[in-house]
Amino acid sequence: MPTDRPSFDDFDEINFPREGDPGFDDVVDRAIARRGFLGGVLSFGAAGFVASAGIGTSIGASLLPCPAAALVPDRFGFQPVAANSRDTVTVPEGFDWQMLVRWGDPLWSDAPAFDDATRGSADTQARAFGDNNDGMALFERAGTTVIAVNNEYTNTNILWGNRPEGKPADADDLRKGMMAHGVSVIEVRLKDEGWSVIPDSPLNRRITPMTEMALTGPAAGHPLLRTSADPDGTRSLGTWNNCGNGRTPWGTYLTCEENFNGYFSASDSAAGPTPEHMRYGISAKDWGYGWAGIDPRFDISHEPNEPNRAGYVVEVDPFDPGSIPRKLTALGRFKHENAELVMAPDGRAVVYMGDDERGEFLYRFVSDMPADPATPGPQLLESGTLYAARFSDDLSGQWLALTPETTGMEAAEICIHTRLAASRVGATTMDRPEWVAAHPARSEVYVALTNNKNRGLKPNAGGDATPVGGPNPRAANVYGQILRWRPAGQDHTAERFEWDLYALAGNPEVHDDAKAGSPNITAGNMFNSPDGLAFDSRGMLWIQTDGKYSDSGDFAGMGNNQMLIGDTTTGEIRRFLVGPRECEVTGLAWAPDGRAVFVGIQHPGEKGGSHFPGGGDSVPRSGIVAVFRKDGDRFA
Ligand code: FEO
Ligand code: CA
Ligand code: CA
Repeated sequence: MPTDRPSFDDFDEINFPREGDPGFDDVVDRAIARRGFLGGVLSFGAAGFVASAGIGTSIGASLLPCPAAALVPDRFGFQPVAANSRDTVTVPEGFDWQMLVRWGDPLWSDAPAFDDATRGSADTQARAFGDNNDGMALFERAGTTVIAVNNEYTNTNILWGNRPEGKPADADDLRKGMMAHGVSVIEVRLKDEGWSVIPDSPLNRRITPMTEMALTGPAAGHPLLRTSADPDGTRSLGTWNNCGNGRTPWGTYLTCEENFNGYFSASDSAAGPTPEHMRYGISAKDWGYGWAGIDPRFDISHEPNEPNRAGYVVEVDPFDPGSIPRKLTALGRFKHENAELVMAPDGRAVVYMGDDERGEFLYRFVSDMPADPATPGPQLLESGTLYAARFSDDLSGQWLALTPETTGMEAAEICIHTRLAASRVGATTMDRPEWVAAHPARSEVYVALTNNKNRGLKPNAGGDATPVGGPNPRAANVYGQILRWRPAGQDHTAERFEWDLYALAGNPEVHDDAKAGSPNITAGNMFNSPDGLAFDSRGMLWIQTDGKYSDSGDFAGMGNNQMLIGDTTTGEIRRFLVGPRECEVTGLAWAPDGRAVFVGIQHPGEKGGSHFPGGGDSVPRSGIVAVFRKDGDRFA
């Protein structure tokens, strides 16, 4: 282990002196070692973590593996997979995997198979599985199984890789990119040869940026949502950059609009982005998709309100292909990662949501109405109160209501300019909140804070400071952490909560300071940039990564992006899967019988270094894999 580095204490003290504040060591030590939080069962051997002045000598060396973990029966059921940089999917011994569906696979038999030479057209793409699949959920009704899955975005270098310099050659290329976005709903079935999509199923559906949507909730009809095509502000077209997801107890799919800003541009510099646009990252230039060239509503010089109609959670009925998806303005407008819905003891719906941007916030929605136990339904998500989280160094926290009284903004505007409202109440700026996952049996909620290179260095886009501390304890955070909280009184509507850190990702092989990570991070399970999070029915936490895959420097020994499983009682984390090169592992759903897990492999070869899954010289394609035990047994 290197010994010539200043300890994190020294570094922190020199660079970020915080006179009078509780020290980093003290807060993080308590945040990681908090015994009471773990139900009195076990903490994970963190007693020595930063307890002495020599953080570098205590972390990662003397504390691992956690000896107490041996007392707990193995709840994992597999031996961990080693990190690697192979161009394939690696699963544990005794497991295997198959492709379920790939970008461009036709969902109807009248559409052609994906063509590597052309990479399809707008028309074929509109009838095929979209690109860059992300969050997904599986629904079953009367023996029919449907997966609804987000198609977040498209890598233009791959999409147009058949064109000179990878640039779109014509308007159809731009439309093809647009049709690669949105949501795919696919009927799937287990046949003798494995899991497959049912072509021509009446349930198959593509939802794209051109699909009609209803705007619901407090902001529906507001002047800020009105456009020349929709003077009422109640109907919008389409959804794009759908990242994580949620599902409701009444059987609908929640698809979450994340980086919606990157599709807008301004043709007239005199009518460019407003400060409100800029808070959401909207600028005069798009991110290379060129949509304003085929649809003028993406030109903010002409339609300044069009961006206000994106950035929502959208509800989709996966069993009604003719239904009109509903944009839920009550759940706020920001760069939504996912939407984790739990029912509170009094029957109100609570939705936890992250805003994935450096220094943005963690949110909660609480419905006004309790559910009718007989018919809980979508009306619950049309009115309620939004809250943003504030974390204190004493490991307590508070949900701050975003209301006209607390923000000085009208109710509809809070739903539209939610980031501005959260800034006004002084919520805690976070290290990019990604997926939120609620434990199925305990009142405990987890969020992946993926990384934040600006922590301690730059304010967020609204000018809010990003001080080092609390649940965001490392400056220029390159590894990320998993935070959890427990609502007071086991009531998800409570104002107060307690928090701690489940894991600080890091590299104990390279660092011997706080960048080594928490004691449950070892040479055998290390990862960076946790992103997807979900609990299985056993209460095991599945962790997916979207991080650096250089396998060098800070990330040496981590290999490709991966999926791990965490035991939230003991703290132990094991690597279950490694993805192919340059991919992100994101989105998961379990077969109803627990005998397969569906896992999203997004953007393999985003920098030209993969030919997954076809191999040879084939075009790399995002897709969903099904992972199963070779003996056919249940494992999740
Ligand atoms: Fe689409 Fe925050 O990941
Ligand atoms: Ca993500
Ligand atoms: Ca991510």
